Amino acid sequence: MIVLGIETSCDETATAVCRDGVIISSHIRSQSIHEKYGGVIPEIASREHEKFLNEMVFDTLNDGGISKKELEGIAVTQGPGLSGTLITGVCFAKGLALGLGLPIIGVNHLEAHIFANFLADPALEFPFICLLVSGGHTQLWHVKNFKDYQLMGETRDDAAGEAFDKGARILGLSYPGGPEIEKLAKGGNPNAIQFPRAMMKKNNLEFSFSGLKTSLLYYMDEHKNANLKDVAASYQLAIIDVLITKLKWALENTHCHTCVIAGGVAANLFLRDCSLNKLSGKKVIFPDLDLCTDNAAMIAYLGELYLSKGIKSAIDFPILPNMKMA
Ligand code: KG4
Ligand code: ZN
Repeated sequence: MIVLGIETSCDETATAVCRDGVIISSHIRSQSIHEKYGGVIPEIASREHEKFLNEMVFDTLNDGGISKKELEGIAVTQGPGLSGTLITGVCFAKGLALGLGLPIIGVNHLEAHIFANFLADPALEFPFICLLVSGGHTQLWHVKNFKDYQLMGETRDDAAGEAFDKGARILGLSYPGGPEIEKLAKGGNPNAIQFPRAMMKKNNLEFSFSGLKTSLLYYMDEHKNANLKDVAASYQLAIIDVLITKLKWALENTHCHTCVIAGGVAANLFLRDCSLNKLSGKKVIFPDLDLCTDNAAMIAYLGELYLSKGIKSAIDFPILPNMKMA
């Protein structure tokens, strides 16, 4: 089956074509316009998606050597995400589906992040643990089977990516903050400053990062001449230490041997090193960097899976900015 995927949940406009479980073309356009504001401005993001979607679909089909007539379905992110940007993508996808007489499926963005791991490692098998760490989410999922997912824990306040972004802002770095902090942390001493780790009672799988951000703010206030490399390295370790420790507990509690780390924060190479060290004996999978951050390959792949099982959405399906999984 040949399915076009469209992703507009936040500030990446992305389009991809999946044929029988294989991505044959994938385009991502990151909206750099938000950098100067230090965060995503929803209204601007929606207009940017609107400006580029048509051309990107055209280029993606061309690159894959696919004509519109060959398409057999459309998959589009239904939620969670920003209302305005979701509406832009979903309306565009519905227009295309109606015009071409194709079935359409609204896809859950978080479920798609989990399924991106099957693109990263086609040998991946259920059950596994997924640590989903992005700008909006920090969640631990026990993925037992297709459509059988159990949420084991999630953040009570800021997401891990948000902690990187807000920390970067405090340090005067640009947005998105994760790659900036990772760069600055190189050569710094991660044990120089003991930033707090919240909710670390054994087997507590909930997360909290807002206190960490506040403690960075106080530290910078009190240490005007701090070594910024040490600060970035210590702050990064405080986030990653918590993520990996809880991932380890989740693996132990479920007796799972495989885990995948997905979402934008999974692009962090220090996180990758730490997980390989601390989770020795377990299979740890990371999607390629362009599959970790927001992309349409994962939407097309999961959409094809649903459509090929005969599961589709009604053409008047709504966007769900707070869409839940399971
Ligand atoms: O999954 P994603 O692209 O978008 C959603 O939030 O859905 O994740 C974006 C987040 C941002 O907070 C960004 O700072 C973080 O992922 N990120 C990183 C790195 N690259 C991106 N965090 C830490 N280290 C990185 N190298
Ligand atoms: Zn995402």
